[in-house]
This record gives sequence, structure tokens and C-alpha cells, in this order.
Amino acid sequence: MSDQPKIVVAASLPELVEAAAAHVRAAAASAIAARGRFRIALAGGSTPRALYPVLVTGVDWTRATVFFGDERAVPKGDPMSNYRMARETLLDPARVPPANVIRWRTEDPDLDAAARDYEEALRAGAAAPWLDLALLGLGPDGHTASLFPGTSALAEEERLAVAVDVAEMGTRRLTLTYPALCGARDVCFLVTGGDKAAALATVVEAGHLPAARIVRRPGPVTIFCDRAAASALRDKVSS
Ligand code: 6PG
Repeated sequence: MSDQPKIVVAASLPELVEAAAAHVRAAAASAIAARGRFRIALAGGSTPRALYPVLVTGVDWTRATVFFGDERAVPKGDPMSNYRMARETLLDPARVPPANVIRWRTEDPDLDAAARDYEEALRAGAAAPWLDLALLGLGPDGHTASLFPGTSALAEEERLAVAVDVAEMGTRRLTLTYPALCGARDVCFLVTGGDKAAALATVVEAGHLPAARIVRRPGPVTIFCDRAAASALRDKVSS
């Protein structure tokens, strides 16, 4: 039986961001103290975006390796690029050494090859768990990273990274898989907005939808959410 996630309900976005930032800083300090390195996967999306400027301070980024949980199939400078968003909000302001940042090679016309390279980069220099912390968002349809309902990526049990067709968006994405994300040492979800309330309640309480397998994994999971996103949950824990 899976563990229940810890749910932190914040009264405002700044409060949510401060609570999540404290969690990330503690995870970084503990990974660096134990293993000399902090391996984190960043998320795309508007809620994670609010966190990144706060994380410019309080983490020793010289000792971090920064991965991305997923990426859109766009050039690295595209406004839709998760890498670009993280670079502008966190990586450049924090002066994270470029060698510490592992981005998906979206310029490769063969995205399956780009996914294989990403898996290799994730496996390099570390045994499982490959990630100390996976930061994730949640979509109203229950997707997380680019694990969308009804897609082939959900069935992947061996590979850590895949390219996937997302028919509902008419696009391809690159994403870490359940083996990589469920296997992370620690997982945090950042969820805001009433449009996520039903999905959040479902993944926490009923176990359907793509994010549920990660939310209900045996290891630690913390969900930082606002009151609107938490409104359909039966048991709430206020921060
Ligand atoms: C992406 C994501 C995705 C995102 C959620 C939540 O690149 O789109 O990584 O999984 O985190 O869709 O996004 P919002 O916080 O914007 O709702």
C-alpha cells in the first residue's frame, strides 16, 4: 500500500512559495551533506515558475545538477521552453554554472534519440535514485511532467526518459517516466487554482490519473497547494 502524501495548504501564493522553497533548500543541504551533490528535476508551468525567483538564494547551486522533468518540443529560446523559463527565473539570476544544467536536446530532429541521451545523462555519475528531488506541477487533467492521460509514456517501466505524442495538444513532448520520478529520493508537487481541485482530490484519494502513481508512491511526497486547489480534498493540513 502506498503512503499518503503530506499536504501543505497555503493561504497565498507567496506563502506557498516560501514553504516550498524551504523544503527545496533543506533537501539541497541534506543531499550535499550526504553525497556532496544535489540532483534536482525542475518542472515547467506557472506554479513552479513562481517558486524559481525565490530559489535564487539559499541553495548551493555550484553543487547542484539541474535536470528538467519534461520539455516541450520547441527550440531552447522559445517562450514555451521550460529550459528558457528556468534560465530566466532561476539559472541565470543564481549564476548556476552551465555545466550543472542538463537540458533536453530539443533541437535534435530525432526526439527519441534526445530522450535516450537524457536518460544517459541522468544515469551518469549516480546510482538510483537518480534524483534527490523531483519538483512537479499538476494539470487539470491529472497530468504531471508530460505524463498525460492515454499516452504511451504511462506504460514505460524500464526507460527513464521518453519522447511522447500528446494527441490532445497535437504535439510531442519529452518527459521523465514513472521509473525516474517514482524513484526519486523526494517528490514535491506545486498546485494552485480551482481548476486543479478535482484532479488533486482524485490523485490523492482515488488513485486514478497519471499523477496518482507518483503521489501515492511509497516514498516521501509533499503537495504544496493553495486553498482553491485544495477545495475538493476531504482532509486538509494547513501550513
Ligand atoms: C509543463 C509541465 C506540466 C506543468 C503542469 C502544471 O511543462 O507543462 O511540466 O506538467 O507543471 O501542467 O502547470 P501549471 O502550474 O501552469 O498549471
